[in-house]
Amino acid sequence: MSDNIHSAIVASTSPAGQAIWVLEGERTAYAFGLDRFGCLQHMYWGPRLRAASDYGEPSPALERFAHERVAGVSQEEYPAWGDIKYLEPCLKVAFADGVRSAMLRYAKAAILAGDEAPELVISFADDHYPLLVDLHYRLWGEHDLIERFAVIRNTGNEPINLEQTLSALWHLPLDETYRLRTLGGRWGGEFQISEVLAPLGKQIIESRRGITSAHANPWFGIDRNGSASETHGDVWFGALAYSGNWKLVVERNAYGQTMIAGGIHDFDHTWKLDAGESFTTPSFVAGFTAEGYGDASRLLHRFQLDVVMPRSTANTLLPVLYNSWYVTEFDVNFENQAAAARKAADLGIELFVMDDGWFGVRDDDTSGLGDWTVDKRKFPNGLTPLIDYVNSLGMEFGIWVEPEMVNIQSDLYARHPDWIYHFPTRPRSESRHQLVLNFGRADVQAFVLDFMHELLSNHNIRFVKWDMNRSFSEPGYPDAEDGREREVWVRHVQGLYRIFAELREAHPQVMFESCSSGGGRVDLGILRYVEDFWMSDNVDPLDNLLMYEGYSMAYAPKAKMMWVNDPFHWTNRAPSLTFRFHQAMTGALGVGANLLRWSAEEMTEAREHIAMYKRIRPIVQHGRLYRLASLREGDWAAFQYVGADDKETVVLVFLQASRFGASRRWLRLQGLAPDAQYRIEGAETVLSGAALMARGVQIELRGDLQSTLLHLKQI
Ligand code: GLA
Repeated sequence: MSDNIHSAIVASTSPAGQAIWVLEGERTAYAFGLDRFGCLQHMYWGPRLRAASDYGEPSPALERFAHERVAGVSQEEYPAWGDIKYLEPCLKVAFADGVRSAMLRYAKAAILAGDEAPELVISFADDHYPLLVDLHYRLWGEHDLIERFAVIRNTGNEPINLEQTLSALWHLPLDETYRLRTLGGRWGGEFQISEVLAPLGKQIIESRRGITSAHANPWFGIDRNGSASETHGDVWFGALAYSGNWKLVVERNAYGQTMIAGGIHDFDHTWKLDAGESFTTPSFVAGFTAEGYGDASRLLHRFQLDVVMPRSTANTLLPVLYNSWYVTEFDVNFENQAAAARKAADLGIELFVMDDGWFGVRDDDTSGLGDWTVDKRKFPNGLTPLIDYVNSLGMEFGIWVEPEMVNIQSDLYARHPDWIYHFPTRPRSESRHQLVLNFGRADVQAFVLDFMHELLSNHNIRFVKWDMNRSFSEPGYPDAEDGREREVWVRHVQGLYRIFAELREAHPQVMFESCSSGGGRVDLGILRYVEDFWMSDNVDPLDNLLMYEGYSMAYAPKAKMMWVNDPFHWTNRAPSLTFRFHQAMTGALGVGANLLRWSAEEMTEAREHIAMYKRIRPIVQHGRLYRLASLREGDWAAFQYVGADDKETVVLVFLQASRFGASRRWLRLQGLAPDAQYRIEGAETVLSGAALMARGVQIELRGDLQSTLLHLKQI
């Protein structure tokens, strides 16, 4: 390959005449080629090398093992289930004649320029059946990421059932042991980091709840035997762009192979591919870095800002918002919202969001979902007077909806009891008193689009918090076409994405937030349609710091929304207003406290924090994040942001508890220009980038739940 650092997809031929493709990012390379059986063999994934020959040969280079065929222990890029193969298959099919084995043979390859990124498409055809598979590889060279997905086609006359349709399988270098890092949790405790050495056998990380889920997130990080840190070491990492049932399978065998396969979950999944139809898997994005978990995160964050997030707001800063949920809950009306809005405007807040309770008969969570008309008891003249009032205070207006849901106590359910997932002979299990609408149905999609269009066309609404407050159960669809009963899981997600795409197209001025009882729907699939994620219903700032460390492994700071709240009853901790603000300022900032109870001093302090946030917001939202200290390792957490133009940096530092009389710690900064001089705002000190990174700055905090903010500018 070449010496220049331009990234490219390079096709070449091995000395033995075998086709090879190398996807060269700026620092990394991913190589594979055709072996002598016409099988696509993985060759290499790691730092970019100098010459084509450095990447090796596409041969199943393993030894021969008894009871295995070569193909079964080789590094196939996209194994289909058939012959003697036992690795996690990417594809498992059943043909109309009952044959359940696929034999894919290489057909052709094409390199497409692509609008934004070059793309390699490798096509396979089954030996006998009219089944075609296109493997897509998009090279995001400056992000050192590869995006993979597959398109499966039926070119025959009879249906083919797809029983497993993963997006990709990624092979790691052979003969090593690996540590796997994942994100797990639950409602109110999302994004907890968990680590395990990959055992012989499989580790499955999954959601079978219909949504991405708070219990596991479709992201992985893998390093060699636990040798990588925030700043050092080889890390392979990836994230799946999908918001329904998914699985990641980390498999290690006694032949020295470790791989990670992922995509739509095969649990209760069959897709009937009719004659002439095709099925496209979600994208699975993955990368390699030699510079630790911090760099892995920054590559994903940059990719989200540059490519994934809605283009209309990718370059604008997200507003500071207020949300009244924890104050008024369902008891919203013009007076209490207007009173909160006056206070919010006084703080410099830019967007006022009214949460649940404004529609149907919705005085608690037992009724009203599905009836998306304004509750005239609470808003006798509709929403417009409140919106006008909020606008007159200089703020935009936002609103909460939960379109995928219905309460049994609602007009919608009385009219359309058949619109929800259910099995006729089984109870309809409620969770939070609600049931899930079948978003795969065209009539349900039309209903949701109608009321959303009406809401957004007739009101000056600039922000929608789209909530989703339960997992699926009894996923039945009695009216489904024969053989399509299990498609509901995927069709729901497709319906959701379709609705989002149409709403964004029709209402380009509206921003969206993805909420699912907190962080239950945080993934790269939904991020194409939303500006931010509500990270957790748990608004305890200390818990939030831990969650944010996990969240930020995968997801961009800009997309993390948390509010400054009053001390939260879950934990009974009462951190200072400063601590609460500093914590919320690590991402997109919101406020959710009862402002009517705040003293004049608290209002003044909050005003200052918000003004400060507006100054540092470009650095936090569009800069690069460095995690300097972790509460998982001690009492300190620190998050540093370096502005996109490298001129400024901000550090938010948190101390959980002083111990043994110590009150100081050195923090070594990262990502600065070594030769530049930086002045700490509010101090006389001027230090070089080199000194700030090698020696660091000394932070002094004493007590429990203390925090500080450093803002440094190049001079
Ligand atoms: C969920 C959300 C909350 C709030 C309530 C409203 O729990 O996560 O932020 O919107 O629903 O019912």
